Amino acid sequence: MIHLLDDIVKNAEKEFESVKDSASLDRVKAHFIGKNGVLTKFFKQFSDFDIETKRQYGKLINEAKNKIEVLLANKKSYLQDVNISLSVSSNLIDVTLPGRGKSFGNIHPIMRTQERIEKIFRSIGFDVIDGPEIETDWNNFTALNSPIDHPARSMQDTFYLNLKDQNGLPLLLRTHTSPMQVRYASTNKPPIKVIAPGKTYRIDSDATHSPMFHQVEGLWVSKDVSFADLKGIYTEFLKCFFETENLLLRFRPSFFPFTEPSAEIDMMFTSGSNKGKWLEISGAGQIHPNVIRNFGLNPEYYMGFAFGSGLERLTMLRYGITDLRHFYENDLRFLNQIRN
Ligand code: DAH
Repeated sequence: MIHLLDDIVKNAEKEFESVKDSASLDRVKAHFIGKNGVLTKFFKQFSDFDIETKRQYGKLINEAKNKIEVLLANKKSYLQDVNISLSVSSNLIDVTLPGRGKSFGNIHPIMRTQERIEKIFRSIGFDVIDGPEIETDWNNFTALNSPIDHPARSMQDTFYLNLKDQNGLPLLLRTHTSPMQVRYASTNKPPIKVIAPGKTYRIDSDATHSPMFHQVEGLWVSKDVSFADLKGIYTEFLKCFFETENLLLRFRPSFFPFTEPSAEIDMMFTSGSNKGKWLEISGAGQIHPNVIRNFGLNPEYYMGFAFGSGLERLTMLRYGITDLRHFYENDLRFLNQIRN
């Protein structure tokens, strides 16, 4: 009996030794301690034995069973280790491979223009200010000397909200950045020297108009700011913006309710592909005395100039873009081309 058990355990040692995978491990396990396993059969015969024999051999059989279970457990954990290292080595990371790369986002061309403009004006002493796109009738029109029957105020041109301001007038999406003049000048003391870039809205949409577009407002209010300052500053700005000395400016008489005199600023490149054409760039003018008064300032003491330029226009000219709609279509083939 003892020899028999020893043989079984020795056999089991050999068999477990030669196991290479979990399938054969199961098989070997079944062979020895499974339901019909070699050792299990001993237990089954047990019932036929008398108590003394049971006591004598029961212990031995149990010892043999424990030894086999240890063999099983060892092999099992060994196989697990092997599996882990196998899967690690088959999924080896080659650290020398070039990375897949993450592409960095790119600043939108209009924002690039805005940042360029901010930098230039900061360098000549202007502050950059920001304000809401939802405006009151007063800031957008009335304070800017726009009469109640001005066409820009019509439902065809302006997006009105179903919300009213303190005066019972409907709020609106600002149609230009000029209301920032009113906001800022009525809450800050002169000298005032700011630009206010941002989004503006009009009911208008074709190859050259978008219902949302961008402007930058310029405002300089002090005691002795003249049209000559406007000319000097705006000329310098355009030369910096287009990075060329080869351009001419023309201040063409025009009309805006909030300036007197008013001008349309045209520019012409004297070299390059756009050479020789006058291009409309900006509205501008000396601030109307009524507007100075609406700022809460005395037009006897204070004067200044303002301008409002379209960022889309400036961007199109700088990069040679011919269709405004490219800016809003989010086509990476377009956007990726503009990186400086
Ligand atoms: N707000 C005008 C527009 O959107 C542009 C403009 C013209 C702004 C003359 C000004 C200005 O500040 O002085 O058409």
